[in-house]
Amino acid sequence: MVADKTHHPGRDKVLITGAGGLLGRSAAAHFSRMDCNVTAVTRADLDIANQPAVLTLFDSIKPDVVINCAAATDVDRCEREPDWAFKANEEGPLNLARACLEKGAALVHVSTDYVFDGEKDGLYTQDDQPNPQSVYARSKLAGELAVSAELNRTYIVRSSWVFGKGGKNFGSRVVELAGRGARLKGVIDQVSIPTYAPDLAIGIYDVIRKGTYGLYHVTNTGPTTWMEFARMALDLSGLADIQIEPVTRAELGQPAARPRNSAMRCLLSERLGLAPLRPWQDALKDFIHQ
Ligand SMILES: NC(=O)c1ccc[n+]([C@@H]2O[C@H](COP(=O)([O-])OP(=O)(O)OC[C@H]3O[C@@H](n4cnc5c(N)ncnc54)[C@H](OP(=O)(O)O)[C@@H]3O)[C@@H](O)[C@H]2O)c1
Repeated sequence: MVADKTHHPGRDKVLITGAGGLLGRSAAAHFSRMDCNVTAVTRADLDIANQPAVLTLFDSIKPDVVINCAAATDVDRCEREPDWAFKANEEGPLNLARACLEKGAALVHVSTDYVFDGEKDGLYTQDDQPNPQSVYARSKLAGELAVSAELNRTYIVRSSWVFGKGGKNFGSRVVELAGRGARLKGVIDQVSIPTYAPDLAIGIYDVIRKGTYGLYHVTNTGPTTWMEFARMALDLSGLADIQIEPVTRAELGQPAARPRNSAMRCLLSERLGLAPLRPWQDALKDFIHQ
């Protein structure tokens, strides 16, 4: 943890990469709402694995803070295509860290609860050793390590089970899938904390405002399973009569391993007096009602 000047995102130039994705869109919306000077670039605008393109963009924008929301997040595709995973999740973040170092910017790098192996009972903290069990998780941890080795002015923000409008994952799509008559399966033996993308964007903003570099765990509050999450999402949507088949991870047989338990707690936020994000159930209500 390194204390530095307090950032004032409202005055700083903020560059958001991966802005076409779930978190990137929410971050761009929140930082713009907070009157920040935001440049949000999608993958089509900037491939973070392309170092010359990264430097050219830094030269023209001259960002004070960069929020990296770009990543290869298809966990099963990462398992099949490790080169693709490491390019986006290690090489890209390293390029950003190098450019930040050269141009004097700070970097927020978003990472994942999947860096943990899931064998702990209870909440993972920053004191727990990562032990990634999939290519995705290894590539994300490699990104964390590469960025922190290159640049002191780094906020690493791990989150979990991010859901929201336009998301491609189960939590984001369960109601839409139910509406289309799909057969739904809810995993019962995997626990973590669903995190609403707009809430995570607020959490990242608050972290930057504190100006204390380090490793954060930023999630909504309260561990659950995908089964419980999906049930509540359907009930809130007036689809209480739709059945969800309970399944285990083994029964699903996905190519990449998922941790049994990866719910996290943030010792650093607690030390700094950063308020925890609200319970995931409250966030889910907002998501469904919007
Ligand atoms: N979703 C979750 O459940 C979850 C949980 C914990 C942590 N996280 C972390 O949260 C962050 C944001 O994830 P998300 O949920 O917003 O994922 P997302 O919706 O898949 O967004 C990621 C974005 O990054 C883009 N991208 C991929 N490779 C790129 C590259 N080389 N250069 C520039 N852009 C690139 C993707 O573009 P294409 O779609 O065109 O490839 C996509 O628009 C990631 O760091 C992820 O690891 C996510």
